[in-house]
Amino acid sequence: MSYPTHRLRRLRKNENLRRMVRETRLSIDNFVYPFFVCSGKNIRREIKSMPGCFQLSIDNLGKETKEIHKLNIPAIILFGIPEKKDEFGKEAYVKDGIIQRAVREVKNSVPSLIVITDICLCEYTSHGHCGLIRKGKIDNDATIEILAKVALSHARAGIDIVAPSDMMDGRVKAIREVLDDNGFEEIPMMSYAAKFASSFYGPFREAAESAAKYGDRKSHQMDPANPDEALREIALDIEEGADIIIVKPALPYLDVICRAKERFNITLAAYHVSGEYSMVKAGGRLGWINEKEVMMESLLSIKRAGADIIITYFAKEAAKLL
Ligand code: PBG
Repeated sequence: MSYPTHRLRRLRKNENLRRMVRETRLSIDNFVYPFFVCSGKNIRREIKSMPGCFQLSIDNLGKETKEIHKLNIPAIILFGIPEKKDEFGKEAYVKDGIIQRAVREVKNSVPSLIVITDICLCEYTSHGHCGLIRKGKIDNDATIEILAKVALSHARAGIDIVAPSDMMDGRVKAIREVLDDNGFEEIPMMSYAAKFASSFYGPFREAAESAAKYGDRKSHQMDPANPDEALREIALDIEEGADIIIVKPALPYLDVICRAKERFNITLAAYHVSGEYSMVKAGGRLGWINEKEVMMESLLSIKRAGADIIITYFAKEAAKLL
C-alpha cells in the first residue's frame, strides 16, 4: 500500500501534531558543561577559537558554577591549566594543584553540582604528550600508575565522577583498583572508551594549552577509520569497570554512538568537541548558517543516535532555549 492511502505528511501539519509524534527529546538533564581553569586572579580570558568559552581563574569559578546550577545543568567537567609543567606531569596529582583547588571551590559554592574531572597528562607535561616518555615513546604501564595517582588526588579533593581520557591500555582497571583500595569505591568512572585521534580537538588544545610539542597522538588515540575496534575498546573498558562510556568526537562518529548503544547496556556519553563547537560558531558569525538552529539540530542528532549524556560547550546556550 502506498500513496494515496499513506500520506506521512498528515502528521506534520502543525506544531502540536509534530509535538505528539516527536521521537527524540533533548533535555537539560543530558548536558555536561566543560570549564577550563587556570591560575592567577580575576582571569576570564576568552579562547580565540572558541567564542563564548573562557579560561577562568579559581576565584571566578564560583560565580560561573552558580550560573550553571541556575540553568539546571546537572554536571560540569573540569580541565586544568597548571602554572608549571614538567616531564612527568607532577602538577596533575599534587594536593594543591589547579584541579584539586578548583574542585574544592566548586564544591563550596554549589555542593550538589556533579563535578567530573578529566584524567590525562597532556595539560601537565612539558612535552604535551598524554603520558611519560621513555626512549621516544609513551610508556603505557608507567603512565597508568601516574594516572591512578591523579585520579586518587581528585577523589580526595571531592569529585563525583572520574573521567580518564588518556587512552592508555589498562587505565580503567588501574584507576578502579586505586580508588577502591582507598575507600572511594563509590566514585563512578566515566571512561573515554572510544576516543579518536581527531583534528576536531584543535581549539581545545588552545584552550587547555595542551598541544604536543612534537609528534601526534596516533599511537594511543584511535584511527578514525575503525568502528569495530571502537567497540572492542568499549567492551574492554566495561570489563575493567567503567560505569559510563564516552564516544568522542560526536557528530563525525554518530555511527559509533549508534552501534555502541545497540550493543551495550550501559549509559553512553558523547563528547561534542571543541572543533564541532567552533565550526558552528564560525558559520554563524559569517552569517552562513543559523547558529542557534544548527546548534539544536546537532545536539538532537547526537541524542537520536543513542547518547544519554552530551558533553558540550553549547550546554548553557541550549539550556536557555529548552
Ligand atoms: C585530553 C583531552 C582532549 C580533549 C578532552 N580531553 C584533547 C586531546 O586529546 O588532545 C578534547 C576535547 C575537545 O576538543 O573539546 N586531556
